[in-house]
Amino acid sequence: MIEGIDRLTYCTDGSAENLARSKQCFMDWGLSLQHEASDELLFETLNGAQVRILHPAHLDLAGTAPMEEGATLREVVWGMQGDTALPATATDPHGLVHRFAPSRKRVLSLQGSASNAWGHVQRVNAPSPVYERAQPVEIGHIVLFTQQLAEAVKFYESLGFLMSDSYPGRGAFLRCAPQGGHHDVFLLQVPGKAQGLNHVAFTVRDIHEVFGGGLAMSRAGWKTQLGPGRHPVSSAYFWYFECPVGGLIEYNADEDHLTENWQPREFTPGPTVFAEWAIDGGIDGHTRRQPQVAAGGQFLSEKR
Ligand SMILES: [Fe+2]
Repeated sequence: MIEGIDRLTYCTDGSAENLARSKQCFMDWGLSLQHEASDELLFETLNGAQVRILHPAHLDLAGTAPMEEGATLREVVWGMQGDTALPATATDPHGLVHRFAPSRKRVLSLQGSASNAWGHVQRVNAPSPVYERAQPVEIGHIVLFTQQLAEAVKFYESLGFLMSDSYPGRGAFLRCAPQGGHHDVFLLQVPGKAQGLNHVAFTVRDIHEVFGGGLAMSRAGWKTQLGPGRHPVSSAYFWYFECPVGGLIEYNADEDHLTENWQPREFTPGPTVFAEWAIDGGIDGHTRRQPQVAAGGQFLSEKR
């Protein structure tokens, strides 16, 4: 059975500057740098999922074609649990390479902050955390633009993926195992939009880490694409940033956990289905307010 994403491999646009900016971006994002060479970077999340960034001429990319021009995602390694009948490698209709190997991720005892929801007090004599920055726990999901939705869904279903929810004819949320997070792959067909990477989501511990991580990225000068906000489909909190090595990167927390009893739903695409609410342009990491608000950067409680 596929358990989740073990490793993603991106390729740069070939320039040394792109490699250097990608390195800085993922360092600021909160991943730990494991290995560095002139044509390769290797990062890890807390549970050992890896992000690999290669120069397009790297030998490991030989014989494969990118799904779009420029820096982008080139390969996904899916971690497996137990026996599998899957081939070692499969290429999806977009040209993205998928590999299947025993999972090498670590089991963590880490816990997100408990909530004191009405009637469900879980945090007693304990404050909830304020994060100075994020440290993503794992790679949650990938999102691809497609121009061949039906064929792509068929490909992922042939690997054992299940439909969690859909925008009929427009989008498919697919999870790799009956029990687990709402989606590992989301395929989005937008008229006139070429195939390619839309974003990669990194799971953090709780909503507070989405905010703390996003504010730290903002302070480091990275540009918000959208967020923070909340997705009604999957219930997750999100904050998207532009990523120099292709697409967007997302901090994601509190997504729905599904089982085999989940009944897939169908939605009509629209702004309120994509986001219940969202901050356009992010929150300034210094003033901790919307960037367009001249707040002066001080709260009433701060010493003046
Ligand atoms: Fe996402």
